[in-house]
Amino acid sequence: MPKLIIDNITLEVPEGTNVLEAARSIGIVIPHFCWHPALGKAGACRVCAVKMLEGPVKGLQMSCMLPVQGGMVVSTTDEEALAMRRAVIEWLMINHPHDCPVCDEGGECQLQDYTIAGGHGIRRYDGKKRTHLNQQLGPYIEHEMNRCIQCYRCVRFYQEYAGGTDFGVMGRADTVYFGRQQDGALQSPFSGNLVDICPTGVFTDKTARFRARYWDYDMAPSVCPHCSLGCNTVPMARYRELLKITARRNDAVNGWFICDRGRFSNAAVNAPQRPRQALVDGRPVAMDAALDAVLERLSEFLEMHGPGALAIVGSPRMSLEGNLLAARLRDLLGAGALCYFGDVLHAERALEAVSLLNYDNCASQEDVRRADLVAIMECELLEEAPMMVLAVRQAWRDGARIFIVGDECPLDDTSQEFFKSEAVLSLADVPLGDAKRPVVICGSRRKNLDAIRAAAGNGSKLAFILDGPNAFACALLAREHGAVSFSEAVAGGKLKGIISLEADLPADLPPEIRMLAAADWQPTKLLERAEVVLPVTAWVEMDGTYVNNEGRAQRFKQVMRPGLPIRGLTPELHPPRVHRHDAPGGDVLPSWRIVAQLLERLGEGRTEEPLSGRWERLRSLDAEGAGELLVGIKQN
Ligand code: FES
Repeated sequence: MPKLIIDNITLEVPEGTNVLEAARSIGIVIPHFCWHPALGKAGACRVCAVKMLEGPVKGLQMSCMLPVQGGMVVSTTDEEALAMRRAVIEWLMINHPHDCPVCDEGGECQLQDYTIAGGHGIRRYDGKKRTHLNQQLGPYIEHEMNRCIQCYRCVRFYQEYAGGTDFGVMGRADTVYFGRQQDGALQSPFSGNLVDICPTGVFTDKTARFRARYWDYDMAPSVCPHCSLGCNTVPMARYRELLKITARRNDAVNGWFICDRGRFSNAAVNAPQRPRQALVDGRPVAMDAALDAVLERLSEFLEMHGPGALAIVGSPRMSLEGNLLAARLRDLLGAGALCYFGDVLHAERALEAVSLLNYDNCASQEDVRRADLVAIMECELLEEAPMMVLAVRQAWRDGARIFIVGDECPLDDTSQEFFKSEAVLSLADVPLGDAKRPVVICGSRRKNLDAIRAAAGNGSKLAFILDGPNAFACALLAREHGAVSFSEAVAGGKLKGIISLEADLPADLPPEIRMLAAADWQPTKLLERAEVVLPVTAWVEMDGTYVNNEGRAQRFKQVMRPGLPIRGLTPELHPPRVHRHDAPGGDVLPSWRIVAQLLERLGEGRTEEPLSGRWERLRSLDAEGAGELLVGIKQN
């Protein structure tokens, strides 16, 4: 490991580290635009100048382009380096609009920060600014080319990292242009990352445009609920409206990026018509009254049919806390069935993952990115887990061989943009033994469990794609509490009543089955036939835990208070102007609190913290940390 001195601090860094990264590792931030940890160096912006005082390289150098060598003595504050950086910022600002007060990026703009930090305030050049025409890039991304500083981050991400072909760099010299051949929606399912990666305001989130400044947002570390991968995010809200979602770095999971599904799926949370009002037989009531009504109906039901006819149904899209308490409710009532999965296939898939994965063989997205061979079997990867496609692409870019196994893996032409693959008939045809870091990705269609078991036995890592952000936790609980799939419970023929918690059950349940109560924040068909409707918070309105497909428990924090977004209030929807402590539409609770209140009414003590017993240690899990692997947990 080479040793160097930066600003009089001696440090050792791993071979291959550049001077900019070495400085960052000890908290010294050298201004940079084109360098990005996930994209590497480009040497395009020339703003990362440092002065090399002693050692193998001397003079003014671009710190992002210079690998550390032993004996280097670096000054980041040398007057010559500072002058170079000031000059670069001044050149960049010759053409950049001086529009920070009206620019949507203002407040979260790297160029703005470095311009102010560098002291540039007076424009000396009085020529005309170069201008460009902007393009319509679809419903999600706003294009403002005049703000471009030619760092090339966008095209390096879009084409090289994400494999997109409909966006690129055109022109030459000072007319260089980043866009499409012609107007049109960006085709990449990862296009939203342009917003995060652009160091200025060329690409901004059109869906949240001019709604808030960075300091206005309510935000907190969160986890994406839209597939089983558990990518880390920072949702941003204002006035009870989820305005935008950005990627949050987690090197083991999503790295620096997220997919467009995770980024642009806010509408369901903000929908004024989403369930926000407790109902008993269709009549609006306060949440407390609704919970009392559940108890009443429950005791009448139990008297008539007995507990064996009742099913408590949790769900892979509900937090670990909610599912945990669902099991406690089943135990307390002695209900005939506890269900976490809709059908046998979903339940079996998740249980297989739980039984096969352990610390040594579970593959994170980072393991996939670093793999030298990837076999993908029985899944539609882009649909089921988009970020896994990006991970496979990084492996392929580094020389990994990619195999598509069997004919149940319809990676269509779109996927072929991301990586080139070889088709084989079975996993036995994949040369797993020749690889040093092989990974087998098994999708939701998998049938061939024996082959997967054999692969695991041969030292391959496994990545199972599951059916929901918390399917792994549901499988752990199902194994522990003897849960059955909902279809099995119905097929048993004894079921007469259901309490459902964020469950996606078939709407055409047999008419003799009573839907005693249904808790959800999504307007499912099931709510229409529920006797008591209990509106609950969405994941951004509560603290909770999800366990992703590899068995990694990750905490997410409350971003915003629940309630009708101010923007959604039409004159008809606007509530009467009476004094109240909660926001209109805010009489909702997290699912786990609903179950906790039912338990309390049934005579159990008060539950302030749902994670107890062997789950208790997850309470202190840092939401900004890497998470904790729960694989290999033994059945109690
Ligand atoms: Fe070094 Fe751009 S960050 S040249």
